[in-house]
Amino acid sequence: MAEIGTDIEKAAQWLLRDEVVAIPTETVYGLAGNAFSPPALSRIFEVKDRPTFDPLIVHAANVERLAGLVLDFPSLARRLAEAFMPGPLTLLLPRDKRLPDLVTSGSDLVAVRIPRHPLTHALLERLPFPVAAPSANPFGYISPTTAQHVNRQLGERIPYVLDGGPCTVGVESTIVGFPQGQPTIFRKGGVEVEQIEACIGPVTVRAHSVSNPQAPGMLATHYAPRVKLVLGDLDRLRDQYAGHRFGLLSFDRVFPDHPGPLQVTLSGSGDLREAARNLFAGLRRLDEADIEMILAEMVPETGLGRAINDRLRRAAAGSSRTEH
Ligand code: TXA
Ligand code: MG
Repeated sequence: MAEIGTDIEKAAQWLLRDEVVAIPTETVYGLAGNAFSPPALSRIFEVKDRPTFDPLIVHAANVERLAGLVLDFPSLARRLAEAFMPGPLTLLLPRDKRLPDLVTSGSDLVAVRIPRHPLTHALLERLPFPVAAPSANPFGYISPTTAQHVNRQLGERIPYVLDGGPCTVGVESTIVGFPQGQPTIFRKGGVEVEQIEACIGPVTVRAHSVSNPQAPGMLATHYAPRVKLVLGDLDRLRDQYAGHRFGLLSFDRVFPDHPGPLQVTLSGSGDLREAARNLFAGLRRLDEADIEMILAEMVPETGLGRAINDRLRRAAAGSSRTEH
């Protein structure tokens, strides 16, 4: 198992030697490596079993360093950066050619973000390079929101997990790009669509793409538990699957007649932020239980609810695929 700790210097020493370590962010834990080192980047893909055509997000300490990674920083992007960085926002911008091809899978655009977590911020300030970091889970599986989640799955493959406690946002960053100058959301995430529109006006949402080979994280089948997940009305689903051993994932309801360990209530008070924080840990808990399937309901399609529903839909699509 990897060592788990809060020692920034230890994490830095591994990274300086081209190793990869897990780092906390406000969204999910990342699997970090030197963004300018092809061996470190290869190691990231290897540890995650991730295909190299799926590009990585580059994490920088501050806007000045981030600006050094891109060729152009258009004014709409700057406005978003001022409003939401550090924070759960990723910008797709023209890439500085000094970044290795492996980071962007050969694309002319690079995804950049400034995480909002004190430990990782200190680590990035300490390092002479930015780090590339996908979510620290095996490719296609649920993202980790605690150091223990990371260690359980990748602990045999990495030397160190920097433990920053449970992630405070709980869903991945919102990805915004500017194709032909048009602000476009490619992945719904921790910054709400409404917040982005309040900052820069109307945006296109293209986050439902089912066939973008450049970005598997945007595919319909991703973020999937191993066990089948069925989305719908929980009362109806419970009747339909009576006699089966199922887990329940609800927004704000508790089912007194269903075993406690086999149900997850995302937020008893109906708070979407709390629901986002609990989503991936809840899915994991049910996925590790002895059940045949997870029955789940969507949350209100507003604010962070849009990102939560997006992950639930993909989890449902991914799990029905693996069933065949
Ligand atoms: O919140 C987050 O963004 C987390 C934390 C660790 O920062 N990271 C994360 O990384 O979710 P990952 O690799 O699991 O998802 C990043 C998504 C992928 O679907 C990838 O395809 C897309 O961003 N992406 C990265 N670089 C891209 C690029 N140059 N062009 C298009 N899509 C890109
Ligand atoms: Mg991921």
